[in-house]
Amino acid sequence: MAHTTDNANVTRRDFIYVASASAAAVGGIVALWPFIDQMNPAADTLALKEVEFDLSPIVPGQIVTIEWQKKPVFIRRRTPEEIKEAEDAPLADLKDPQTDDARVQKPEWLILVATCTHLGCVPSNQLKGDFGGWLCPCHGSHYDTSGRIRKGPAPKNLAVPPYQFLSDTKVLIGAAPKPAAATAEHG
Ligand code: FES
Repeated sequence: MAHTTDNANVTRRDFIYVASASAAAVGGIVALWPFIDQMNPAADTLALKEVEFDLSPIVPGQIVTIEWQKKPVFIRRRTPEEIKEAEDAPLADLKDPQTDDARVQKPEWLILVATCTHLGCVPSNQLKGDFGGWLCPCHGSHYDTSGRIRKGPAPKNLAVPPYQFLSDTKVLIGAAPKPAAATAEHG
């Protein structure tokens, strides 16, 4: 299966995006720390911190990694072929059955928490595995172009974080989806 990417460029650009997204989140981090110290809430209740991200520099087929709540998040601009592969996968073949439609708000944009559901490694953006998505090199979990687990020890699909499109080119990671798109959140 041919899933090619300009690895060197993607890696360099990934770094730039991580840096800029982190910088954009600084205000949120500073504002949130006193709250965390006082309340000590469970990690998954900290969906308050939001990261706004400009999608416009991302070209089809490219994956960038940003940081949200100290976790890496993949943003992938899928090609028409990748979308079709994700949509055509029979649910009966899936370990954690979920339609592609339930995992995206716009088919072109796949947004995922980049934490392997086996033991928490970060799947590789360069090794796309047997299903064109991601390979987690720690123990060989293969994810497809919807971030669903297809092979290997991981039990669950990569999680979809809450997010909201502010415009065609701006997304707010951490924001509750608008009601019409609420089904895009996994779980
Ligand atoms: S942590 Fe990813 S396969 Fe084990």
